Amino acid sequence: MSRSVPAPTAGDTDWFEHDRFGLFIHWGLYSLAARHEWVQHNERIPSAEYRKYFDHFDPDLYDPDRWAAAAVDAGMKYFVITTKHHEGFCLWDSAHTDFKAPNTPCGRDLLRPMCEAFRARGLRTGFYHSLIDWHHDQYVIDPYIGPYRDAPDRALRNRGRDQNRYADYLHAQVRELLTDYGQVDLLWFDYSFPNRTEAGEPGKGRSDWRSEELVAMIRELAPGVILDDRLDLPGSGDVTTPEQWQPRAWPRVDGRPVVWEACQTFSGSWGYHREESSWRSVENLVMTLIDCVSKGGNLLLNVGPTGRGEFDVRALERLAGIGRWMHHHDRAIYGCTQAPDGIRTPTDCRLTWHPQRRRLYVHILNWPYKKLYIDGLPHERVHYAQLLHDASEVGLQAISHEQQAAMGCDAEQVATAITLPQRKPDVLYPVVELF
Ligand code: GLC
Repeated sequence: MSRSVPAPTAGDTDWFEHDRFGLFIHWGLYSLAARHEWVQHNERIPSAEYRKYFDHFDPDLYDPDRWAAAAVDAGMKYFVITTKHHEGFCLWDSAHTDFKAPNTPCGRDLLRPMCEAFRARGLRTGFYHSLIDWHHDQYVIDPYIGPYRDAPDRALRNRGRDQNRYADYLHAQVRELLTDYGQVDLLWFDYSFPNRTEAGEPGKGRSDWRSEELVAMIRELAPGVILDDRLDLPGSGDVTTPEQWQPRAWPRVDGRPVVWEACQTFSGSWGYHREESSWRSVENLVMTLIDCVSKGGNLLLNVGPTGRGEFDVRALERLAGIGRWMHHHDRAIYGCTQAPDGIRTPTDCRLTWHPQRRRLYVHILNWPYKKLYIDGLPHERVHYAQLLHDASEVGLQAISHEQQAAMGCDAEQVATAITLPQRKPDVLYPVVELF
């Protein structure tokens, strides 16, 4: 049976394709505004006014071990933390800026204990780092992004700014993060927008970040680190990153399937949002994870901790719910990928496949009547079948050409049927494991 395998890239993606499920964390000054991490842009808040969040940032309940425990219990294997988001605030004790956590009332480096806590529980480390910066005094203000994008005095504000010096700062900080914070497994840069020209000026891209030079430095300091694809430098990324939408099929670049990771939030905001009511259900989130793996990808699911340094109850409830499903079903996620070519996904199901153990997993999203039919799977290739959550046997039958025809299906198509119990087992999405 042939199957899709992504094109190799420079970074070490083996662990990543095995682990499949990570925690995104968006944490910064915007957590205090509690109304989206883009609040400074959205409300055009001047720097002097935004300063109030810096002056009041004091996450006194911050305990990264509790964060790591919640991630592990949910079944997550890696985390990606916003070292700096677009607002420019840095969670670590950077030598290159004063706009950092140690200078707020909290008075300490928040990144180091986080890395230690997550690594101690066996998770891999990823850093999200914003290319965009609304705080740095050399970052040239473009007409697209940031609190001063349409300010009448934008030109005046830009006088004397040198984007090249901002790029120096960006490079120096990335060097710091890659040398002072232990092994970094993933770097997630965000983002480039070179194609925006509607205001008559170019957006920002590789020449503004000096992406080529940046990637060369990264590959020298951390040859195996996984890089995302947002540096506006085709060919430099190891992973393709659909955001807030789910691919309909395994994403391809230049015709070949690629390593990919969807990033999704519980609601619409990435940073802590007090009033948002569009939170997704546990069902929907588990379904999203299954959907990613069934198309050969990963899920990076985001939490926005509060200004006191905790995951709020809505996030904790969902992580716990995902963990309840993962407890019985993680075997159908870790090390799994898209099913081999030719096996057709049954109605209301998703398929995942473990190529080394040669097991096929049928994730049942809507409980069928007695039989589940898998077209394209020859009966003689299956030795045994069971429900995954309790290892209870389920029946297997070959479907004859006559039976296929009688059901109005393609008579030439080989098919296998699984006999299921009348009542859906008491798990969110039951999975049948086929040996
Ligand atoms: C976007 C947003 C941002 C968020 C990111 C996560 O590019 O700018 O706020 O951090 O997506 O993927």
